[in-house]
Amino acid sequence: MNQNELKQAVARAAIKYVVEDALVGVGTGSTADFFIDELAKMKNRIDGAVASSEKTATRLKSHGIRVVDLNSVDELPVYVDGADEITEHLAMIKGGGGALTREKIVAAVARKFICIADESKLVPVLGNFPLPVEVIPMARSHVGRQMVRLGGTPILRDGFTTDNGNLIIDVAGLTILDPVELEEAINNITGVVSVGLFAKRGADVLLLGTAGGVRTLTRTSRG
Ligand code: 5RP
Repeated sequence: MNQNELKQAVARAAIKYVVEDALVGVGTGSTADFFIDELAKMKNRIDGAVASSEKTATRLKSHGIRVVDLNSVDELPVYVDGADEITEHLAMIKGGGGALTREKIVAAVARKFICIADESKLVPVLGNFPLPVEVIPMARSHVGRQMVRLGGTPILRDGFTTDNGNLIIDVAGLTILDPVELEEAINNITGVVSVGLFAKRGADVLLLGTAGGVRTLTRTSRG
């Protein structure tokens, strides 16, 4: 199976977590796109979707799936999204597509986070993938200097503006041994909107696409 087939397999496996007659939160990226295409097949059995980016909203609507503003939502049973890296403890780096802030917001509302990923995303330690940090434009140099103090190499994502009108700094060279601590430290830097570390609120379930089939890891089975 090639990487796209693995992504499609986990996207299909995620459908069984979607609650009928309820809303579902939908992430951003190529794996999430496969999930949207699967979701379209059951669109008449859901109430609609909450999108984590403009790109995802456009794809959902193109399939005729109703997109609902998060502010009008009380209950969101499930959020389904990909990851750039994930550990067996279900802590993640996300934001390769630049949607980290909205992804974090939708994930914060959802009761359950289902991560869908091909096996290349499972890592023993986070940090090989440059860590995305969304920043207010006037804080870009300040935040960059703080990233150097934390041991990273900040690189401004060239020509990229987030859906929220901000910039992304990708921080290379970090070996993230304590993702919860680093997430808190970066969140505390003035000018940071959000960091692509999802450790305090990691995934609840990982559906991992492997050559041998889809593996399911849960918070209770971690360790
Ligand atoms: C977007 C994300 C994506 O989930 C992450 O980049 C993985 O993308 P893909 O499924 O294309 O590998 O966080 O902001």
